[in-house]
Amino acid sequence: MRVLVTGGAGFIGANFVHQTVRERPDAEVTVLDALTYAGDRGSLAPVADRVTLVEGSITDGPLVDRLVGESDLVVHFAAESHNDNSLDDPSPFVQTNLVGTFTLLEAVRKHGVRFHHISTDEVYGDLELDDPAKFTPSTPYNPSSPYSSTKAGSDLLVRAWVRSFGVQATISNCSNNYGPYQHVEKFIPRQITNLIDGGRPKLYGAGLNVRDWIHVEDHNSAVWAIVEKGRIGETYLIGADGEKNNLEVVQTLLEIFGRDPGDFEHVNDRPGHDLRYAIDASKLRDELGWAPRYTDFRSGLEATVEWYRANEAWWRPAKAAVEAKYAAQGQ
Ligand code: NAD
Ligand code: TYD
Repeated sequence: MRVLVTGGAGFIGANFVHQTVRERPDAEVTVLDALTYAGDRGSLAPVADRVTLVEGSITDGPLVDRLVGESDLVVHFAAESHNDNSLDDPSPFVQTNLVGTFTLLEAVRKHGVRFHHISTDEVYGDLELDDPAKFTPSTPYNPSSPYSSTKAGSDLLVRAWVRSFGVQATISNCSNNYGPYQHVEKFIPRQITNLIDGGRPKLYGAGLNVRDWIHVEDHNSAVWAIVEKGRIGETYLIGADGEKNNLEVVQTLLEIFGRDPGDFEHVNDRPGHDLRYAIDASKLRDELGWAPRYTDFRSGLEATVEWYRANEAWWRPAKAAVEAKYAAQGQ
């Protein structure tokens, strides 16, 4: 099977490529990635002999048309993915997340190629902290930020291309991922690398916002389950019942590093900061028989800390600039 992975040099996409190469010897993998600040050739170095990396944008119609025409399956991870950046400059979010997804949809429509669209639970907006409810596939879309609104728009494009043009597509909306190869701008790697450097974790506001954490390997095993067994046109929510508030995550990390539980800083909050995300993944579990393997958050976090300790050469080049950008925002 010829698999085109967009955004395969980013965090989740690179882990998807690693998992695919490891578990599916018949897969011929091509990655299309613009190698923005978030993409790193080095994330694919361990599998370089099994993967063709094409440097280019998903907004480049002729390139996308050629690569899609040479594929049996497209798994679409490429995106501008960081909320804080989207508040600073929304324009690349509109280009990549909306125009890029449109460009891919036109190509899969023309060539009749199976398409899987990777999205986020943030399209649903947020939940109250004391609300027992979780997001389900019928929760109304209500995105908060330029990031989540462009992801919501991309999901709607996929749904319309299925209904209007018969495109063979599925969609997944996943909760917050953690694991190896995540950019140091994101919450967990930022705190791990601060701690490795002897610094303090930085919490936005009071740190009571809740995220529903899932290990990236579990996200990607769910993606394969949907690609192989999912019903065309359907949306599947991916989550592993991993709700934690940000303060709990920081305190678990402090414990892993043998530091005092109060050794963190409160910094400026994010404007429009979503309170809580929580996923009801029962459709995925019941219909497709999927289950997560990383059910112990603390040991998943310990393994992730080990990975960042062992791979300083991978993250170090980006660290200073990320911290300077946050410092300028009082974060
Ligand atoms: P990331 O920022 O680490 O990686 C994105 C990748 O896309 C990078 O390699 C980048 O170079 C590439 N890219 C950006 N613009 C491109 C363009 N125009 N053309 C080609 N490539 C381009 O993001 P991630 O965290 O790995 O997220 C991957 C996908 O998963 C995104 O669609 C995101 O919305 C979704 N998602 C992420 C999370 C999470 O917790 N990180 C959770 C749910 C869903
Ligand atoms: P993030 O990793 O940016 O993911 P998302 O915004 O997609 O949920 O942030 C996760 C949570 O951590 C979010 O509530 C914001 C918070 N946060 C901090 O408290 N400190 C930080 O330094 C960062 C980057 C995020």
